[in-house]
Amino acid sequence: MRRVLNDGDLVLRPLVARDAGELFMLADAHRKALGRFMTWLDRTKAVADVSFYILNLDGFWKSGLTYGIFRQDTLMGTVGFHNADHRNDKAEIGYWLAPPYQGRGYATRAVGLAVDAAFQFTSIHRLEAKICPTNASSIKLIERLAFQREGLERQGLKFHTGYRDHYVYSLLRHERESS
Ligand SMILES: CC(C)(COP(=O)(O)OP(=O)(O)OC[C@H]1O[C@@H](n2cnc3c(N)ncnc32)[C@H](O)[C@@H]1OP(=O)(O)O)[C@@H](O)C(=O)NCCC(=O)NCCS
Repeated sequence: MRRVLNDGDLVLRPLVARDAGELFMLADAHRKALGRFMTWLDRTKAVADVSFYILNLDGFWKSGLTYGIFRQDTLMGTVGFHNADHRNDKAEIGYWLAPPYQGRGYATRAVGLAVDAAFQFTSIHRLEAKICPTNASSIKLIERLAFQREGLERQGLKFHTGYRDHYVYSLLRHERESS
């Protein structure tokens, strides 16, 4: 599954150590907007934190796999898989795009590419997404990709401001194939 994904415009490439500086600068420049919904920004204070994250990504079924989302060689954000459970063939998907690149359909396309690759190149049966109820853009995106809302997990996300609820969404293999 560690391959480059491409739709002729967007390129998704697994992150490597040399991406750390660019990734940190992008996230740091938009820290306030992105940090509203992503817990990891609280813990990401320097390039070294991003390097540590990337170096510990050792695969879809292990600690995770994250793709950089590029357009014309510019890094715009990431989409990745984590918390995989091989025994039950399921994993979580997460994604973000820096604000200058939002509102153009790139994120839906990038997440769609990653979802298709996961079903094509792994034995995954169920993909999950966990989304704060106030994250309207992310809810629209995931519902556009035919994920179904299953319910509300109470206080399952820890932010520096406290524990927050999130919706649990899922997409099953046959649902993607038929969408
Ligand atoms: C969640 C997130 C990735 C969504 O990004 P996004 O750019 O809104 O998503 P999309 O790529 O699907 O773009 C959709 C928007 O682009 C518009 N758009 C413009 N041109 C388009 C095109 N050619 N095709 C599709 N949509 C297009 C759509 O109308 C839509 O706008 P709307 O939301 O006002 O209806 C982004 O808001 C983000 O990174 N947020 C911060 C981090 C975050 O919350 N991550 C998710 C945690 S669960």
